[in-house]
Amino acid sequence: MADTIVLAYSGGLDTSVAIRWLQERYEAGIATLTMDLGGKVDLEAARQRALQIGATRADVIDVREEFITEYVWPALQAGALYEGVYPLATALGRPLITKHLVRIAQEEEAFAIAHGCTGKGNDQVRFDVSAAALAPKLQVVAPAREWNMTRDEEIAYALARDIPLDLNKRSSYSVDENLWGRSIEAGDLEDPWVSPPEEAYAWTVSAAAAPDQPREVEITFRQGIPIAIDGQELGGTALVELMNDIAGANGVGRIDHVENRLVGIKSRELYEAPAAIALHAAHRALEGMCLTKEQSRFKDRLGAEYADMVYNGLWFTAHRRDLDAYVKSTQTHVSGIVRLQLFKGTCTVVGRKSDESLYRHDLATYDKGDSFDQAASVGFIQIFGLPVRTQAEVQGQAD
Ligand code: ARG
Repeated sequence: MADTIVLAYSGGLDTSVAIRWLQERYEAGIATLTMDLGGKVDLEAARQRALQIGATRADVIDVREEFITEYVWPALQAGALYEGVYPLATALGRPLITKHLVRIAQEEEAFAIAHGCTGKGNDQVRFDVSAAALAPKLQVVAPAREWNMTRDEEIAYALARDIPLDLNKRSSYSVDENLWGRSIEAGDLEDPWVSPPEEAYAWTVSAAAAPDQPREVEITFRQGIPIAIDGQELGGTALVELMNDIAGANGVGRIDHVENRLVGIKSRELYEAPAAIALHAAHRALEGMCLTKEQSRFKDRLGAEYADMVYNGLWFTAHRRDLDAYVKSTQTHVSGIVRLQLFKGTCTVVGRKSDESLYRHDLATYDKGDSFDQAASVGFIQIFGLPVRTQAEVQGQAD
């Protein structure tokens, strides 16, 4: 209906308060949408709570497989790590969430979508800009950007209106999680000098507590997409879940990063991304076998650009689509198996093989069977070194 707002609903305090706040402020009907991207949300409980607070419609959907195949795999293939370290779990989830909000808004002929982001982070940008791309005329409302309530004021607001709250689960951190990783910030982490407390982490054991025996694991890729672990073929969701478990149990996946937000501030964020770290390492190693020097180098630069696009909320743009086309093309021959060793927080590539590998033993070997023509190097070096020799003769030696 034309007086409807579709709200991305997590079931937490902010978005629960937002249901009522939007109703009162806009005299609107609120349809909520709760999505499972692998963040272990209780979909049915969220649905019930939304209806209890007064939502006119409460959808819940499992988008895990879509998330992995349409968003995570392209980012993995691109080698997209923001500032070289962050695998972009939160950032990749936002355009997908926006896409489904917009879809329901169109079904409902709603005038706006809404999300729970504050005015200080990157996520508001990702929602708003994705919506601008998908439905340029649709309004986006961000209650937490407008209402200026502290957490205690929100609780008072909720109590005054009988909004059911589940305050026990609350940790002292702000956490966002999906299959590709957990993002943890705020609380005592805001002091960049403070060591990450053990309780900030949920998917990984500390290196000290990890098993004393290394765990080797084989990852099979087909055209740059992981399809099997230790020979067992798995769909995207199951594969990432298993990889999170295996790597996390060996202490692999912790990241402590001071990052540059799009809105101009630096923030300290912890990430837990066991599968992402392991799969990026394995994928890169396989590319090392299957791509030429030029392809690898150019792709590295492109990976940084791709990560910026994702981080900055520019998923639904022609530029990202164009980058994707290039990346896809590079992955044609990136098929094979990589063996990782996971050991007390480290993830090391210890073996790789591919039927399409450009590594040729007969060219590389120092043993017999060498097919490299060493005599040909003489002429090659003559010509390669020609400008150096010429300059030295004419201009003297450079120190
Ligand atoms: N800094 C990350 C990003 O911009 C995560 C943001 C959400 N983090 C959180 N703990 N709620 O993608």
